[in-house]
Amino acid sequence: MLKSYLLTPGPTPINPSTLLAMARPIIHHRTSEYRAIFQEVREGLKYLFKTNNEVLLFTSSGTGAMEGAVTNTLSPGDKAIVVRGGKFGERWQEICAAYGVKTICIDVEWGKAVEPEEIAKALEANPDAKAVLIQASETSTGVKHPVERIGEIVKALPGTILIVDAITGLGVFDIRTDEWGLDIVVAGSQKALMLPPGLSFASVSSKAWGFVEGSKLPKFYFDFKKELASAQKNENAFTPAVSLVVGLRDVLRRMKEEGLDRIFERNARMAMATREAMKALGLELLAPESPSEAVTAVKAPQGVDAGKITNHMWEKYGVRVAGGQGHLKGKIFRIAHMGFMDTFDIIIGIASLEMTLRELGVKVELGKGVRVAQEILSHGS
Ligand SMILES: Cc1ncc(COP(=O)(O)O)c(C=O)c1O
Repeated sequence: MLKSYLLTPGPTPINPSTLLAMARPIIHHRTSEYRAIFQEVREGLKYLFKTNNEVLLFTSSGTGAMEGAVTNTLSPGDKAIVVRGGKFGERWQEICAAYGVKTICIDVEWGKAVEPEEIAKALEANPDAKAVLIQASETSTGVKHPVERIGEIVKALPGTILIVDAITGLGVFDIRTDEWGLDIVVAGSQKALMLPPGLSFASVSSKAWGFVEGSKLPKFYFDFKKELASAQKNENAFTPAVSLVVGLRDVLRRMKEEGLDRIFERNARMAMATREAMKALGLELLAPESPSEAVTAVKAPQGVDAGKITNHMWEKYGVRVAGGQGHLKGKIFRIAHMGFMDTFDIIIGIASLEMTLRELGVKVELGKGVRVAQEILSHGS
């Protein structure tokens, strides 16, 4: 009877109180009872996104809202600048390609953050670019991109919007949608929102609504205008994942109770503890210069397949961490630290990694990483 621990960058663990809220008998979504819940959720989302604009909610995984961000603002043949520094940067490019949007890709080495100057240069060379698409946190590499500084650049251009995939950024670290001029911010339920997969979100600025008016790409399910009209009546255009919305109300209440700053501080502390523990064990980080507080990507020791590490951690110790994606498969493993996680989730992750490495024949001193993490984690209030 192996106890299991989920330390992957989505899905993430769920608070038992949220699970109980979602286990209650289903209610109908065209009722005053649901409308009251959704009204509270709408307000909570604005608080979380730091926006006064509507945050649209869709029943889909995060990619649905990413696709909607493209199809609702752009037209066939439009040009978009895509930061491609990992699996999810590639996804922006793929979505654009599927809809006939021309992409200018800024290829960033996996593990590095984009330089805002590169974006400024690309915009200068392509003044007709309608959008810049980026990740706040590139989950495949554990990199945090400088979206605040990119916001400053794009804000000054009336003909260009900034579309940010914050699927593993929102609720992890500070993202000031309105203040930073982030025109569309996309999120998903299964990361820092501590819910099962199945909901996606998109905040839309007034600048972006102007683009929606001119957009000619086809859309039906992810139609922002239709969804906005429904949201303003505390409804959804289509049958929503009612149970998840009920769970989201519980999550948003808890996030408000803890306070965003304290959540960001807790995540940053867990992330630092993880990084320092890895270094203490002699392991190399994939993104040492611009690490995301959502997930730490770690290179497997020379000669050891990262898949062996993740399998061993799961099979022997019930600890689920993620492997690498794309060309990093077998080369890295990723430990998440966001959402319903705290001090001892991190200790469990590091301790099981130390034991795993030793059992796989890697020379490590047991407790060395754990001790370093404890020093950092015990400094919190
Ligand atoms: C940064 C980022 N973008 C996009 C996605 C895709 O989201 P989904 O799998 O919910 O469609 C993920 C999921 O891991 C992600 O981490």
